[in-house]
Amino acid sequence: MNYLLLYSSTDGQTKKIILKMAEQLRTLGGQCDIRDLNNDKNFNLSSYSKVIVGASIRYGHFNKALMNFTKTHQKQLNTLSSAFFGVNLTARKAGKDSAETNVYVRKFLEKTPWQPSIVGVFAGALFYPRYGWFDKKMIQLIMKMTDGETDTTKEVEYTDWNKVASFTQQFFDFKG
Ligand SMILES: Cc1cc2nc3c(=O)[nH]c(=O)nc-3n(C[C@H](O)[C@H](O)[C@H](O)COP(=O)(O)O)c2cc1C
Repeated sequence: MNYLLLYSSTDGQTKKIILKMAEQLRTLGGQCDIRDLNNDKNFNLSSYSKVIVGASIRYGHFNKALMNFTKTHQKQLNTLSSAFFGVNLTARKAGKDSAETNVYVRKFLEKTPWQPSIVGVFAGALFYPRYGWFDKKMIQLIMKMTDGETDTTKEVEYTDWNKVASFTQQFFDFKG
């Protein structure tokens, strides 16, 4: 089975998740091509049986490349078996970590013409020391308002890797 795994990632966490998924799918016998949604432009979906797209949130929005891709390739995406997952820090909280309850993923699904076969939401990572001054202050403020980590010397990975593995297995098993 040929898989295309696409990601949109700014600080690398969504890419890390995609790479983990590819590793798991390869162990299960799948063939995986991994591409960056923001750098690669010409995607030929016809040589794949299954597609996974993962993207992260920055200041309330997915990268525009995500919506553009789903609009351009909507016909093929809706015929293939396809999976979408969103990555953000809101999803670190129980009750905000599903397709129905994560505001960013819910809104994206309302707007896109793509109907993914399965949808996932994963908590991302907080990398204070790697952020510039402005982002550091903004994220600290958001974390303060949402009872999160405010120590800007810290790096915290909230991603639940068991949830990532279950999602990958579910998609591997999916027969559309
Ligand atoms: C500048 C910046 C803005 C962010 N804005 C949001 C946000 O609005 N809502 C949210 O839940 N998470 C937000 N996050 C958290 C990211 O979604 C999280 O760090 C994720 O792991 C990033 O994934 P990536 O490394 O693949 O880009 C933000 C992070 C940064 C650095």
